[in-house]
Amino acid sequence: MRPLCLLALAVSALLIADALALPRRPRPRVHRNDAVWSQGCLTEKYYTQRLDHFHWVRDAAEQPTFAQRYFVCEKYWSNGPGGVRGPIFFYAGNEANVELYVNVTGLIWENAQAFGALIIFVEHRYYGKTQPFGPDSWQVDPSYLTVEQALADYAALLWHLKADSPAGGAADSPVIAFGGSYGGMLSAWMRVKYPHIIAGAVAASAPVAAFPGVPGWRPQRFWELVTYDATPAAGSAPECVTNVRLAFGNLRQLSRFAEGRAALSQLLRLCKPLADEGEALDAAYWLQGAFDAFAMGNYPFPSSYISDNPDRPLPAWPMRAACTHMVVGRSTKPSTLIEALRDAAAVLYNVTGDVQCFDLQTSGPAAGNQGPWDYQWCTELMGQELPYYPTTGVTDMFWDQGPFNLSVIEAHCREAWGVTPRPDWGAIAYGGLDYRYASNIVFSNGGYDPWSAFGVLSNVSDSVVAISIPEGAHHLDLMYSTPSDPPSVVAARRQEMALVRTWIQQHQAARLHTSSSRGSSSSSSTGAGGGVSGGGSVLSSSGGGSSGTGADSS
Ligand SMILES: *[C@@H]1O[C@H](CO)[C@@H](O)[C@H](O)[C@H]1NC(C)=O
Ligand SMILES: *[C@@H]1O[C@H](CO)[C@@H](O)[C@H](O)[C@H]1NC(C)=O
Ligand SMILES: *[C@@H]1O[C@H](CO)[C@@H](O)[C@H](O)[C@H]1NC(C)=O
Ligand SMILES: *[C@@H]1O[C@H](CO)[C@@H](O)[C@H](O)[C@H]1NC(C)=O
Repeated sequence: MRPLCLLALAVSALLIADALALPRRPRPRVHRNDAVWSQGCLTEKYYTQRLDHFHWVRDAAEQPTFAQRYFVCEKYWSNGPGGVRGPIFFYAGNEANVELYVNVTGLIWENAQAFGALIIFVEHRYYGKTQPFGPDSWQVDPSYLTVEQALADYAALLWHLKADSPAGGAADSPVIAFGGSYGGMLSAWMRVKYPHIIAGAVAASAPVAAFPGVPGWRPQRFWELVTYDATPAAGSAPECVTNVRLAFGNLRQLSRFAEGRAALSQLLRLCKPLADEGEALDAAYWLQGAFDAFAMGNYPFPSSYISDNPDRPLPAWPMRAACTHMVVGRSTKPSTLIEALRDAAAVLYNVTGDVQCFDLQTSGPAAGNQGPWDYQWCTELMGQELPYYPTTGVTDMFWDQGPFNLSVIEAHCREAWGVTPRPDWGAIAYGGLDYRYASNIVFSNGGYDPWSAFGVLSNVSDSVVAISIPEGAHHLDLMYSTPSDPPSVVAARRQEMALVRTWIQQHQAARLHTSSSRGSSSSSSTGAGGGVSGGGSVLSSSGGGSSGTGADSS
């Protein structure tokens, strides 16, 4: 394997993006979100956030800060039964423009009214418009881009929103964190690290154990699950796995000699002929990456979350659609199989239907080995699936790529960023799969989602609950509901929100207990009687508005 496989990295960037998906990658299917934006519910705000939560300077005025973007919707926020304030539904932004999550997180939008919830979506530092050092801050100085800083940002923002809320405001509202993928990791970890701020967390498709330091970590499981999506058990054509594997075998054979590569360049309809075996390997990863996308994005409805083109979504059940191209009859010639593989991958790479030839430099890859997400992988998060998670060609439908090789990742990270990853830090800091000492978290995982390889799949306790969605792709449960949803996701959403309700009730019971034990019961009843706060935003007593800075100052 070449030290740095640009193509593969790029593809993985696309794929993982939200999936551990990428910053510019997955755009959401633009679904029901127009209403959310057009009804004037959302207000864009900025909070003056501390750049570094863990070092001190002599004078507070010299403490560097940046503007952290967040969106608020107060429209559904209400007094609940007994005059108690509704909860805060807080989306822990992950590695993209936060508008992406505003757009796709139907679970929050569809439940806010019933819960009387205040909605907040916060943007992760270094993504979207939350750039500490101006556009593309990662190019200036990525060193403040850590999970720890991001969690502290969210805690500080929520703390100040509550502390500075006018009487009758958000002070006593329980905060429920939501997130998918890396956002799911963040929401679970918010609950673990800041339980006094986060009453409970819905962590969807959160690969909290995707660290080499987690005992029993088995990265090849990822590609085994991608392969599962291509089996009849997951609704795909019976020939699919066998023929994809045969096609990759043929492709690898042809890669080894010049005439083979020339043939391959034609069969794959590449714009530029493959120059050498390394480029042929890149082409193979590029094809493999399409199947990654089909598995992560194996939704029951057409979606552009993976295709990144709102006008041209991937079809419903994209793996099944891709696999129909692998049904090529019995005596399958190598060339026929390779063309079939090309057409299967084209379900992603030619989603627009106007691609003349495939350019490995632009149709996905190329640019992927850059950006803040790669830095995060190269420090705390460790190793993207493509090309790093190994395949065997036996337990999966790809080819033997050798064992997981940390030194290859290290070489890339040193070269790209001047850092060496810390493969066990994620497990040390957050526990991997060990949630015995946590509470009020629901982990959901989809059977079609390869990231479920690293999720919490069994119940830990009464309050750390694992929900499985056998027909679910990557955090399907967070998406807007549709008529084509399998019953398992409908049930999962119901169960998640029932747990959320329990946590809110617990919080409110504890709050009342605390205030009465202090003998100051009057404040809560007075506050509750005050209706929707004294004028203006319930969240900020001053400087609100669409660009008001938050309350951080000292
Ligand atoms: C979110 O949805 C709005 C309205 O449909 C759209 O204009 C915008 O481009 C979307 N943003 C992202 C990041 O997908
Ligand atoms: C892309 O799709 C269009 C429409 O189906 C097709 O005519 C074209 O050949 C495809 N491009 C490639 C490179 O396969
Ligand atoms: C890992 O990669 C390095 C650098 O390419 C190579 O020298 C080494 O043999 C590989 N190790 C394994 C276990 O494959
Ligand atoms: C965990 O417990 C819940 C009930 O609280 C149950 O519905 C769910 O199926 C259990 N999860 C697993 C993976 O067994």
